[in-house]
Amino acid sequence: MRGLSNKRVFITGAAAGIGLATATRFYEEGANLILIDMPPIEETKLKELFPERMTYLQANVTHKDSLAMIQGEMDKGIDVLVNNAGITRDATIHKMTDEQFDQVIDVNLKAVWKLSQMASLYMKDNGIQGAILNAASVVAHYGNFGQTNYVATKAAVIGLTKTLSKELGKYGIRVNAVAPGFIGTEMVRKMPEKVVAMMNEKAPLKRIGEPEEIAAAYAFLASDDARFITGTTINVDGGLVLG
Ligand SMILES: NC(=O)c1ccc[n+]([C@@H]2O[C@H](COP(=O)([O-])OP(=O)(O)OC[C@H]3O[C@@H](n4cnc5c(N)ncnc54)[C@H](O)[C@@H]3O)[C@@H](O)[C@H]2O)c1
Repeated sequence: MRGLSNKRVFITGAAAGIGLATATRFYEEGANLILIDMPPIEETKLKELFPERMTYLQANVTHKDSLAMIQGEMDKGIDVLVNNAGITRDATIHKMTDEQFDQVIDVNLKAVWKLSQMASLYMKDNGIQGAILNAASVVAHYGNFGQTNYVATKAAVIGLTKTLSKELGKYGIRVNAVAPGFIGTEMVRKMPEKVVAMMNEKAPLKRIGEPEEIAAAYAFLASDDARFITGTTINVDGGLVLG
């Protein structure tokens, strides 16, 4: 795929699941990776997977100190930001605590806004026609039981993506989102089996997705092949959203 070689690509939540698959895909495309995640031990694991062109930032995207560290790395250059880090804290409305609500807002929405602000400022000031890519979810389109907090953030990410694309288009910065369906990662393994089975039944392709299938959409949207695409959300969900 054209145009990703030697690009500086920041990926949040890169130590597992979709983030790790996305890191792998961009690495194969020749990108320089700046991988952001929380666990301290991940650096060794990541060094084995990505022996060169990789920097690991042990950072929590909701913490001020971490954001300062990420800013320091962005000041050396950024071409692509993948706002992938996301969490669930599920409970139905009468059981959900303020803490559960706030945690999900902070990671899935506020950090996306903050990192987009930081990345786009660098891109604008340095004439970089970069790409910002955000993790939405298929549930933003139709809601999901027990996830008022999570679904609200994912719907907000779609609106934020549209708005940022309008604000940043004049600088040549593109902003897009990917809305995954149910993908085989830790996040989905925590869900009740019957819910996942029900979703598989509803999807025209009748199966759960692979993290690599989401990574492919991010790689496409970051590439020159997507140079006229901005403000959109691509559903990568086996057709689930139709159901
Ligand atoms: N798996 C799915 O079916 C699915 C569906 C729709 C959307 N998504 C979205 O895709 C993204 C990735 O999902 P996943 O399934 O790979 O999740 P995952 O739980 O497998 O991995 C998420 C990663 O993000 C990291 N992370 C969490 N909070 C962080 C923080 N504050 N700072 C830094 N890193 C943090 C975790 O440590 C973890 O490595 C999320 O935004 C999720 O909402 C996933």
